[in-house]
Amino acid sequence: MSEISVPAARGETSGRAFKRTKFLLVYSSKGGVGKSSISMNLGATVSVTMAPDRPANPPVAIVSIDEQNTPQDYVEAANKKGLRLPIDVYRFDRDPSQLIGLIGHYRLVVIDAGGHLKGNVPLTTALDLVNPETGRRLIDGALVPMETGQESRKPTIRTCNLVLTPREIPFYVVINKAFPQAEADLRDAEAFIDEHGWDRPPSPIKHFRAYSKAATDGITVPDFDRAYARQGGMLDMMQLASALGLHTANAELGAATGAVVA
Ligand SMILES: Nc1ncnc2c1ncn2[C@@H]1O[C@H](COP(=O)(O)OP(=O)(O)OP(=O)(O)O)[C@@H](O)[C@H]1O
Ligand SMILES: [Mg+2]
Repeated sequence: MSEISVPAARGETSGRAFKRTKFLLVYSSKGGVGKSSISMNLGATVSVTMAPDRPANPPVAIVSIDEQNTPQDYVEAANKKGLRLPIDVYRFDRDPSQLIGLIGHYRLVVIDAGGHLKGNVPLTTALDLVNPETGRRLIDGALVPMETGQESRKPTIRTCNLVLTPREIPFYVVINKAFPQAEADLRDAEAFIDEHGWDRPPSPIKHFRAYSKAATDGITVPDFDRAYARQGGMLDMMQLASALGLHTANAELGAATGAVVA
């Protein structure tokens, strides 16, 4: 777990491997909706799809700007078992401006943000960062996870209306932990998102029990033991990546028209 900076060289003599780095924020002011799980598993799926041979320098990084720092749990558990995660993991909650140092070193950086809306210094600092190469906001787009239950709804409204919309950050609201047998709840949650005029990916992220052990096992979805959860989880993450315009198959990111992270 590096807290300071990326390694000096990442595959190219210039020290830069990628022309453009996409920054995706995963945030909701609601706790436990899956911000860390989605950050880690979307990042891991995009990474192994882009680089199936799992190079030592993966194309995707996860950055925790949440002091709770769940990504660290994955790293510690993986290290204990001698496993290597298919992503690099950083913790920049004390100085999110370190995100700028990742430009050019990854195709995709997923930012796992937590905590309340008010007085959230790491979040507001990250949101205000400017990409020195483009002169535009560093964060290209955001993902707001939501559960189907009613208790997710007010925090989702606040997150979208107080954090993302005023800053004109394109975002998707994604339903997480969807149970296939609870079709009516899913439709109801989708209608809620649509009524607010927010974008959502065509499919929700399904509930798999394997996710609840993932952090303590140090395993991300491409390495889940059971084929059912591994394939189902990867499919969900790839569909999400595709909706976000994150090309997962050896292509430049963001070529998709109208994509959030374009
Ligand atoms: N699709 C899913 N299926 C089953 N369990 C899930 C799924 N997504 C997340 N979980 C579980 O829900 C719990 C909360 O997830 P997670 O820690 O990712 O949420 P969070 O929004 O980051 O929480 P916090 O607000 O505490 O940072 C964890 O136990 C996680 O394993
Ligand atoms: Mg979390």
